[in-house]
Amino acid sequence: MKKKIALITGITGQDGSYLSEYLLKKKYIVHGLNRRTSLFNTDRIDHLFNGKKYKNSFFLHYGDLTDPGSIDEIIRKVKPDEIYHLAAQSHVKVSFETPEYTTNTIALGTLRILESIRKNNSKIKFYNASTSEMYGDTKKSPQDEKTTFLPNSPYGIAKLYSHLLTKHYREAYKIFACSGILFNHESPRRGQTFVTKKIISALVKIKNGEQDCLYLGNLYSKRDWGHAREYVEAQHKMLQMKKPDDFVISTGKQYSIKTFVNKVLSQLKIKGKWQGKGLNENYTCRGKKIIAISKKYFRPQDVTNLLGNSKKAKKFLNWKPKIKLDDLIFEMIEEETKISNNT
Ligand code: NAP
Ligand code: GDD
Repeated sequence: MKKKIALITGITGQDGSYLSEYLLKKKYIVHGLNRRTSLFNTDRIDHLFNGKKYKNSFFLHYGDLTDPGSIDEIIRKVKPDEIYHLAAQSHVKVSFETPEYTTNTIALGTLRILESIRKNNSKIKFYNASTSEMYGDTKKSPQDEKTTFLPNSPYGIAKLYSHLLTKHYREAYKIFACSGILFNHESPRRGQTFVTKKIISALVKIKNGEQDCLYLGNLYSKRDWGHAREYVEAQHKMLQMKKPDDFVISTGKQYSIKTFVNKVLSQLKIKGKWQGKGLNENYTCRGKKIIAISKKYFRPQDVTNLLGNSKKAKKFLNWKPKIKLDDLIFEMIEEETKISNNT
């Protein structure tokens, strides 16, 4: 039987690396769109790229979401059966500082891919990485596929454009196009500037005497955190459905950033106490301030209350998350400890 061909944008990112592993195990031929960077950006996929195992089934191509010609060329050359569109300027805080670039990569990036599919081969199945960030200021909780989107960041607004565009191409051109509305998902491969990785990395270093203090922003927003390794399975399942549709992917459990910090402190056996309020809130351990608040990490607007209801995914995709937050934290601490011990 002919092997299926997948093209992944954002292959060097957290999800791209887990999805590549998952599809290669399923005997796909995997191609990735990889942007040129001044330093190597392939750390998360080097184990797939180097060596003989996937020599004939794993390929990278230079391209960029801001360069329509490169996208079109890769799609025509690779002739994928499925496209997983994961690439994005994915940091919400950065989107306030680079709103135009964020909109160009996310909103126009998705348009460029969908247009290429429409013109070249409308049989290609398309997965779009939508996000819980689109719920923004909503007062409804938990959030599901029917909840009104009220995004409050350039990132969330650009993602809503991509989400609606994906639906539009599905309805207008009958393209098999799905969006996964994924809630926050983390892993040892999470980017350093996202809050979970930042907290774990700093507290491991503080415990080892390699850092003095961790500076954070809003401790009181709440997130529904899952494990990226499980979430990419749902992305694949969506493209195997009989009909294209959109699905919320979440755990249905919610914690504040402060509770997350406390869980990490507890696993690392760092004992101390919280004191102060607002910008003066801090955590001290043996008379030393090891966590403090900095204005720098607050956003002009924040999404404060994310909690997903993924009943539809359970029913139609037979997908549900198994990994608990404490186990995810344990895995991330283990990885950070290895890195800290090697430096
Ligand atoms: P990530 O780790 O930040 O990866 C983003 C990927 O996009 C990287 O491969 C990055 O390349 C690539 N990229 C950025 N700008 C590009 C450009 N101009 N052209 C080509 N590639 C570009 O993100 P992730 O956590 O894996 O998330 C994957 C997708 O899901 C993103 O679209 C994100 O917005 C969305 N999402 C994520 C979550 C979550 O909690 N993780 C939740 C909902 C939705 P470099 O490696 O060179 O930077
Ligand atoms: N990054 C960061 N750094 N966030 C902080 C900090 C800090 O020092 N201190 C507090 N926070 C708060 C943020 O204000 C936010 O409320 C929460 O921690 C989570 O921030 P991030 O980890 O940066 O994730 P995010 O929720 O903004 O965005 C992630 O999840 C989205 C899905 O809801 C990203 O992965 C997005 O790409 C994704 O779409």
